[in-house]
Amino acid sequence: MDNFSFYTPTRYKFGRGVENMVGEMARNEGWRTVLIIYGGGSAIRSGLLEKVCTSLSQAGVSFVTFGGIKPNPTDGPVREAIGMCRRCNPDGIIAVGGGSVIDTAKAVAAGFYHDGDFWDFFAGKAPVEKALPIGVVLTIPAAGSEGSGNAVITNTETGQKISIRTEFVLRPVFSLLDPELTYTLPAAQTAAGIADMMAHIMERYFTTTEGVEVTDRLAEGLLMAIMDQAKVVMAEPENYDARANIMWSGTLAHNGICGCGRREDWGSHGLEHVLSAEYGVTHGAGLAVVFPAWMTFMASHKPAKVAQLGQRVFGIPADLSPEKGALETATKFRGFFKSLGLPTTLGELGIEGADFGYLTRCFLRDKGNPFKGYMTLGPEEVEAIYRLMV
Ligand code: NZQ
Ligand code: ZN
Repeated sequence: MDNFSFYTPTRYKFGRGVENMVGEMARNEGWRTVLIIYGGGSAIRSGLLEKVCTSLSQAGVSFVTFGGIKPNPTDGPVREAIGMCRRCNPDGIIAVGGGSVIDTAKAVAAGFYHDGDFWDFFAGKAPVEKALPIGVVLTIPAAGSEGSGNAVITNTETGQKISIRTEFVLRPVFSLLDPELTYTLPAAQTAAGIADMMAHIMERYFTTTEGVEVTDRLAEGLLMAIMDQAKVVMAEPENYDARANIMWSGTLAHNGICGCGRREDWGSHGLEHVLSAEYGVTHGAGLAVVFPAWMTFMASHKPAKVAQLGQRVFGIPADLSPEKGALETATKFRGFFKSLGLPTTLGELGIEGADFGYLTRCFLRDKGNPFKGYMTLGPEEVEAIYRLMV
């Protein structure tokens, strides 16, 4: 196991009605004015935004709102919201939504203190050392941004979708998780969220670090529980316990606990970020296409850990060759994603006639050439994985 540092200073409030605590939580942080950031309208339609505003008002916290953040959030609204922040000088930011809203809030929070353009952080030109504190009211279990120190933004000019990672500066100071808020999710978003959280676990599972049995088992247990609960949630969208289990899994999948002491991969996320930057696809749906293709590739190049996952999670016989075991694992994951109604090919994702050479160049530009993860990937390998998505 590798040495590691793990610090997660987020306070979670979980359960029915916790969104009504947002005012009290903000006041306890000493915030007198906040900027509320929200998405394209679901929080208005459900009445959640109204509840958040009421709770803040009752706690004596004043607010300004900034709405309209779209999935796969872009740089433009980040700059606009930084401008707004500089005018109203808030003590904190409240993100009401999912990964897209939370990541926008994080980019704004860091950009607020930065003299240059906020994209400097994403271009690797400046580290994030200081940020406004963020509180979250989560509406979709998926990206795990409510517990992570990461943010992902797309630059519309360069076409790059880039992720930044901090140990704790960008972790929310509090996150409010009410499973009932997820009842209104369209089935496709619920399913995409499930694929995303599973991917967050697997990006950590596929490691070159030896001697990490505890985190291996944490990851396997989480994956099994998610797949179990996913079936219930898809059949009964208002099953509280299933929604609650899925919601907490989304946080555990990505707050770092499954990655302690091990090298992580993140190649599949890189492959997907190219697809969502280029075609605007839903991140989790893209991952349902990418991951089985990645596993299929690994079956003939580096099968051991993929085969191990299949044995332990799906009960695939241990006497199969590692290559066959890994292929069978890819088939099982593909089948599971299909059972949720997710796409598992580029065609099903709505992408026809992709230029694989171009996608490969984008990946290597953003992730390094060669990409060094579970396996080192150069142009040939990356293109081969994209071709397995057809
Ligand atoms: O915008 P509104 O109207 O709110 O609708 C959203 C959006 O259309 C809708 N939605 C959310 N909660 C809802 C709801 N609809 C009905 N009822 C509710 N309760 O769902 C749609 C998707 O929302 P979004 O925030 O985009 O989803 P998600 O949480 O999957 O976030 C995706 C973004 O997060 C990034 C992804 O790349 C993508 O840009 N990621 C962020 C990570 C991080 N910060 O750590 C890690 C992830 O790997 C991921 O890359
Ligand atoms: Zn993800």
